Amino acid sequence: MTNNSRSSQAPSRASFVVVANRLAVERTTDDQDEPCWRTSPGGLVTALEPIMKAKEGAWIGWHGAPDEVLEPFRHDGIDMVPVPLSRDEVAEFYEGFSNATLWPLYHDSVAFPEFHREWWDAYVKVNRRFAEAAAEVAEEGGVVWVQDYQLQLVPKMLRDKRPDLKIGFFLHIPFPPQELFQQLPWRKQVLEGLSGADLVGFQVPGGAANFLRLMKDRLGLETRRGEFVRPDGTRGRAGAYPISIDAQAFQDLANHPETVERAKEIREDLDAEIVFLGVDRLDYTKGLRQRIRAFGELFKSGQLDPDKAVFLQVATPSRERVEEYKRLRDDIELLVGRINGDMGRIGRAPITYLHAGYPRQEMAALYRAADVMVVTPLRDGMNLVAKEYVACRGSGDGALVLSEFAGAARELKQAWQVNPYDIDGMKDQILAAAGADQTEKRRRMRQLRRQVFTHDINRWAETFLRDLGLE
Ligand code: ADP
Ligand code: G6P
Repeated sequence: MTNNSRSSQAPSRASFVVVANRLAVERTTDDQDEPCWRTSPGGLVTALEPIMKAKEGAWIGWHGAPDEVLEPFRHDGIDMVPVPLSRDEVAEFYEGFSNATLWPLYHDSVAFPEFHREWWDAYVKVNRRFAEAAAEVAEEGGVVWVQDYQLQLVPKMLRDKRPDLKIGFFLHIPFPPQELFQQLPWRKQVLEGLSGADLVGFQVPGGAANFLRLMKDRLGLETRRGEFVRPDGTRGRAGAYPISIDAQAFQDLANHPETVERAKEIREDLDAEIVFLGVDRLDYTKGLRQRIRAFGELFKSGQLDPDKAVFLQVATPSRERVEEYKRLRDDIELLVGRINGDMGRIGRAPITYLHAGYPRQEMAALYRAADVMVVTPLRDGMNLVAKEYVACRGSGDGALVLSEFAGAARELKQAWQVNPYDIDGMKDQILAAAGADQTEKRRRMRQLRRQVFTHDINRWAETFLRDLGLE
C-alpha cells in the first residue's frame, strides 16, 4: 500500500480540476520512519482514482499530514496539488465540523451530531483555502469538480471568484431530509455554498429531491424539474448519479494468478467450510455492532457451527481521534473478544477480526475467498465494497447480503437484502444466503454482475460531466 514513486512537479494550470478533502495518497512514514505515500482510505478515492488517471487534470486535496506544506507533484500518473491543514484545522475542520457534525447529521443522526461555532469558523476558513487553490489552478473556462461534504461552501466561493468556470459538485454521502438538515445552525450558508454549482450530484434521487426542496423552502429559490434559479437569474441543476467502481480493473486484479494463489492461502489459513466476510472502514455507520451481534447469536445457537464456519471482519482504522470512533473500536473489540471467548476453542475462533488497511490486491483475494459477503450499514451513500465483491466474482458464484439502507441497494436488487436494525431478520438472510443452492446463487450473481459492469465508474463520470456540459 505504500510507495515512494514521485516524479516531476505537476503543471501549474489545468482545464479539468477535481477538488476533494483528500488527495489520492496520504503522507505517512514507513517501517524505517521514512516519509512515504499510501493510498488514502475510503470510497471517494477508490472511485476517483481511475477517472483521474484517464484524464489529464489536477487533483487538489489535503495530503493527510498536519502542518506540512508540500509543492504540487505528480504521483502514479496524477497531478496532485496539496492543500495544507494546520493541526488546529485538522481538529476543528476535519475531525470536528466534517466528521463530528456533518457526517453523523447526514447519516440519519445514527450518532449525535455536535454543533460548535469554532468548528464552523474553521470549516469556512478551510473551504476558502480550497476555493482559492481551485481558482488558481483552473484554466480560463475550465471545469472544476468539487467532491463531498467537507467542501460544500467551495462551489459558491469559487463561482464568486471565477464566474468563467463550469462547477460541478458531487456528494458521496447521503443528503438528509429537511427535518434533519434544518437542525444545522448554518443550514442557509451550506445551501448557498452548494447553490454555486452548475450541477449538484447525489447518490440517489431522494438526496436530490431533499436538496431541491431545501433550495425552495430555505433559500426561497424557484425550482422546477431538477433546476433551481439563483437570485441573479442564472440556473443550476441537481440530480442522482450513483457512483461505482472500475469493475473491469477489479475483475482483472481478482483473476491475476498471484491473487488466485493468495485467495487459496487465505482459505487454507481460515480452514473453514464456509467463509463470511465483512470489509469496512471502522465507522459507526457501517452497522458493525449489529453484524457482529448477529454472528455471535448464530454461533451461539448452533445455526452456524464454529468448527465449520468463520466470519472474517476486516476493518480499516478511520478518524481515530474522534470520540465516537474510539468508542466504536472499544465496543467492537469487546464484542469480538466475548464471542470468541465464549464460542472458540484452542486454535479456532469463530470471528477473525483484523484492524488494518490492505493493498487492493489483498482485498481482491479476500473477495475471491469469501462465500458470503456481509454489508450491513445503518446508512451509506453508496457502499463500494458491495460492488467490488460482485466485480471480483468472475466464477459467477458467491452471495451478497446487503443493507436496504446503502445507496447500492437500489441497484443491487438481487442481493439478500436486510434491515440491519432487525437482528433476527438479518440472521435469517445470512443463513438464507449461505444455504442457497448454486443455481440460485449463480442466477443472482449474474444479474448483480450485469448491473455493476454496465454501470461502472466511467459511465458515472461520463454522465455527470456530460450533464455539466463537458463533451
Ligand atoms: P466508505 O467510502 O464509507 O469508506 P465504501 O464501501 O464506499 O465506504 O468504500 C470503501 C473503500 O475502502 C473500498 O474501496 C474498499 O475496498 C476500501 N477498504 C475498506 N476496508 C479496507 C481495508 N481494510 N483495507 C483496504 N481497503 C479497504
Ligand atoms: C468516505 C467519504 C470520503 C472520505 C472517506 C474516508 O468515503 O465520503 O469523503 O474521504 O470516507 O474518510 P477520511 O475521513 O479518512 O477521509
